[in-house]
Formats: sequence, structure tokens, C-alpha cells
Amino acid sequence: MERMLYTSRACTVLASDDVFRIIETSARNNPSRNVTGFLIFHQGRFLQLVEGEAQALDGLLEVLKRDPRHYGLTVHYREPALTRCFPNWRMRRLGSSAQAGEEILGTLARHPIGPHCMNLVSEFLTYGQLGSLKRSA
Ligand SMILES: Cc1cc2nc3c(=O)[nH]c(=O)nc-3n(C[C@H](O)[C@H](O)[C@H](O)COP(=O)(O)O)c2cc1C
Repeated sequence: MERMLYTSRACTVLASDDVFRIIETSARNNPSRNVTGFLIFHQGRFLQLVEGEAQALDGLLEVLKRDPRHYGLTVHYREPALTRCFPNWRMRRLGSSAQAGEEILGTLARHPIGPHCMNLVSEFLTYGQLGSLKRSA
């Protein structure tokens, strides 16, 4: 099992309806790939965390890279995982509210994963993108 986190930029014409459809498709497809996770759409950018077998994640990545609804897909984190952090989330859409952030970070903190993954989620929720801290440093 592996856990992977990536960000991407939504194409300019993407509407809330489109995000709804992405979630609908994901929730339909992911159980057969045994993939779980969450998707945050925030300030025109996506952050998605997915967990599953390496082969399933590779297959999903190939599909995602060809999806014209987003671009600039960058994998920031991918590591072996003993257990799933989000076993019941076929693909949950989360907002960028403090409450959503607390829920995700609280769940991640209860699992034996390093701080890197949590820092990435936290940075995305705070700055709406990743790399902002590095750029301003
Ligand atoms: C940001 C983003 C996240 C996505 N996440 C998933 C996902 O977790 N699972 C999935 O099956 N498709 C996901 N998709 C959709 C896929 O790119 C693709 O359109 C879909 O899997 C095709 O499914 P279909 O062949 O059943 O129509 C995502 C698309 C975008 C833009």
C-alpha cells in the first residue's frame, strides 16, 4: 500500500458542477481500484490525497495526467503505508474551512506518518498552493 499526495491547477473554465462530477466519478470508480482519499478544491487548485496499491495509484495517475480539467499535476509526496488513513472515503470532497483542515490533520496525526504529508496539507489550506513558503523564504 502507498499514500500519494499531488496538486494541480484547474483549467480556467472549471465550474463547481464539474468538481461535483469529478467526485461522483471518483466515488464510482475508486472502490473497484480499492483507492480511498480526499480532494480539496481551493482557489483554482486541487490537492488530492489517494491511498491504495502502487499499481492502482500508477493507473490512476495515468488517467489523471490525461484529464483536461486540470494541468500541472505535481506529486509532492508518495510513500509506503501500512494502513489507510481514510478507509471509508471513496473520494471525499473537502472545503478549505478550518473545520475541514482540522478533520484531515487530526486524522493524519493519528497514523504513523511523518510530518511532511501533514505540512503539505496545512500549507495548501493556508496559502492555497504549495511552494509559497519556499518562495518567500
Ligand atoms: C482533480 C481530479 C481528481 C480526480 N480524481 C479521480 C479519482 O480519484 N478517481 C477516479 O476514478 N477519477 C478521478 N478523476 C477523473 C479521472 O481523471 C477520469 O476522468 C475518470 O477516472 C474517468 O472515469 P470514467 O472512465 O468512468 O468516465 C479526477 C479528475 C480530476 C480533474
